[in-house]
This record gives sequence, C-alpha cells and structure tokens, in this order.
Amino acid sequence: DAAASLSVRRLTEWDAAELQALTAEYGSPLYVLDLERVRQNYRRLEAAFSDADILYAVKANALGDVLSTLREAGAGLECASAGEVQRALEAGASGSEIHYTAVNPPAGDLDWIVDAWADHPELTVTAGSEDTIDRLADRGYTGRLCLRVNPGIGAGHHEKVRTGAAAKFGVPAERAVDVLADAADRGFDVVGIHAHVGSGVSSDQLEAHREFVARMGDLARAVADAVGTLEFVDVGGGFGVPYREDEDPLDLESVADATRDAIGEIDAELAIEPGRYFVADAGVLLTEVNTVKDARETTVAGVDAGMTTLIRPAMYDAYHPIRNLTAAGDDGRERLPQTVAGPICESGDVFCTERELPVSKRGDILAIGNAGAYGYEMANQYNSRPRPASIVLEDGDVRLARRRETVDDVTRAEREARNASDSSP
Ligand code: LLP
Repeated sequence: DAAASLSVRRLTEWDAAELQALTAEYGSPLYVLDLERVRQNYRRLEAAFSDADILYAVKANALGDVLSTLREAGAGLECASAGEVQRALEAGASGSEIHYTAVNPPAGDLDWIVDAWADHPELTVTAGSEDTIDRLADRGYTGRLCLRVNPGIGAGHHEKVRTGAAAKFGVPAERAVDVLADAADRGFDVVGIHAHVGSGVSSDQLEAHREFVARMGDLARAVADAVGTLEFVDVGGGFGVPYREDEDPLDLESVADATRDAIGEIDAELAIEPGRYFVADAGVLLTEVNTVKDARETTVAGVDAGMTTLIRPAMYDAYHPIRNLTAAGDDGRERLPQTVAGPICESGDVFCTERELPVSKRGDILAIGNAGAYGYEMANQYNSRPRPASIVLEDGDVRLARRRETVDDVTRAEREARNASDSSP
C-alpha cells in the first residue's frame, strides 16, 4: 500500500484532535504507539533487505504488542536480558526466534537463560567475552552460540551509543577465530558472529558502516576456513531515522545494496537487528502544559512529562519535534521561542530550549514526536515519579497496553519488604 512506502512519518501527520482526545480519556503524560506504522516500517525494511534474516532489537520498545506485531510480520527477537527473553516468550516466540545477547551478564540472567534453554533448545546465545563462554560452560550450556566481536569501528548519533568502538562490547575481532575454535572444541554449537556498530547511524556515516560490514565479511571468511561453516553473520542494527523536520530519511535500498556489496561472498545468512527503525516514528508522547512563565530571557512552558518520561534530550541532547496540538485548531496563536521543561529537579530536565512554538497556554496538550524508540523503555521513577500509561492504536481501535503507575506503585517494593520482615518469625 501507498502509506507503507513512505519512509518517514512526521509529527505533523498525526491527527491533532484525535491525539488530544486520547489524553482526555487516558490522562497525561501518555505514550501512544501506532502498531500499523510499526508493521509498515517492518515491511519497508524487509523489502530492502529481502535476503536477510531480520531480528527486532527488543530494547527499543519492549511493549508486548510491539513484539507480537513484529513477530507476526516475520521478525525474530534480539533480547538483551532475561527479562527481554521473558517478554519474547510471553509474546509467543519460539526458541528459534530468540537471540539473547549477553553483555557482562549477571549470574541470575545466565541461570535463567540456561533454564529456558532446557525448554527452548533452539535459542541462540551471543557471548561477548571468553568469560561469558566459560560461565555458560559452567552451567552445562552446549547450545547454539554466537560470538559478538568488537570491530573497532563505531558510528551513531552520539558518543554514548557508538558501541562498535567501545571496549565493553565483544571480543576483539582479531581473537575471534581462536575463541570460536576453542568453543567448538568444547562442544558448543557455533552458529554465528555478531557485532553492532552503534545506534542512529545517519546518511553521512554510511561509509563507516560499510567499512564495519566489510570487516565482518572478512572475519566470516576467516572463521569459515578455520572453524567451519557459520549459519549467520549478524551485523546488528543502527539505522537512523529523521528527528528534525528537515532531515531526510536514509535510502534503505542503497544501504542494503552497500551492505551486501561490503560483506562480499559469504557462505552464511546475513542477519540484521534494528530497533529504532521499526518503532521511532510510530510513537508520540503526549504531555499537558501546567505552567506558563516569563523567565528572564525566555518563556518556559512547564509540562507534566520530564526526563523521567523521555530521557533522550537530557541524556544525549537529542532533538525531538514538538507540536502544540491544542494550537493546531487555533490559527491565531502567535509563535514565540520557548523552553519546554518537565517537573524534575534538574536543570537538564528540558525537552527543548528557546524553540519557536505557538504561545503555550495552561491546559494545552503538546505532542513530542519520534518517541516510539527508547522512550518508555528508558523511563524511570526518579523523584519518585510514577511512569506513564501506554496505549496502542490498531485498525481504528485504541487499547490501554500498560496502565499508568500510581504513587502507591512507587513505594510498593519497600512496603512489601517491610511486610515480609514484619511477618517473618
Ligand atoms: N543490537 C544491539 C546489540 C544493540 O545494542 C542495539 C542498540 C541494537 C541492536 C539496536 O540499535 P538501533 O537499531 O535501535 O539503533 N538509548 C539510545 C540507543 C541505544 C542503543 C543501544 N543498542 C538512544 O535513545 O538513542
């Protein structure tokens, strides 16, 4: 269909009145996710990478509805923790659809995964260090093993997410052949190699991505010669999406062509595992203006969402488009540079500084765009603030997918601990 071919959905394309009505019903702040858009994003990526195995990096948005939507569309699920694997299983995934990527995995995660492996022997574990392989062996794991390598090349929208160059990830690529040969000798079922260059790779970083993929191709051939045929070579995710109104989307077809070209002839499946690309523009965060204030050099619009709701601006100086939905039906509104700020006690708790927006009024509803990826997932309870609700849109239906937390939820774990120690002998 025509909509599926659109490679970006801008914030202005969402229906302002419909979104506003949602906050009237479900409250504010509110995460909204359009599952049909998630499906369209999947179809577009699948069309470009028609010969690749596609996994979804669950960490971008782990809502059960997102996992089942992408699974049904054909994606496998790349999981970063036992909790994400639990979510994948709850969404109906079978072991063969699940890759667990262990990064300095806590003992509890490994215990949990090895237990899950007994019931789901087809799951794949990706290890990023020799210690992780030893710890798996200690637990009797001899299942499917993939090795995460460190290619020494990173790319991405911010230093903090250029994983390919960060020492904490993967075995240095030059040691990979030896590590895999050893793992094969010890009885592991060696199935693949993996690396992830970073997140939010933009068009002007495609050269670095290409070089990274070329290194993975070379490594795949070396492993095939020395250890044996691999089932797959997973080159991670990282495809950037436009956040700024004037930014162009990646040309996926040419990214896919360049990827195939760079990897060269390999006797293995190409696998990719994007997260952001599927969900970013499928989500918005709605927030209500509760305070409008003339500060010395700026006007501040105080809203009920903050860095605890969407941390990306505070953490990476990330730009998110902002639209005043209430003013969408009010052409007469003047525009003014404004700082949109949350309720958290940090000066970094702002969604934008001095951005030209229609003059805010108390009670206005603002939409923050591209909030579908790494939005709710990174939300927290700092300042003892409950996390917001999430709703999903699908085929004209609106459904509460995750209830809003209450102040009572904030103190629940402590109360339970207290009650447990009161009742213990
Ligand atoms: N695979 C692995 C092993 C990863 O670590 C990641 C992301 C992905 C795949 C998916 O990357 P994507 O396609 O979504 O770029 N919180 C940051 C992004 C951190 C990404 C970390 N790893 C942000 O909000 O920009």
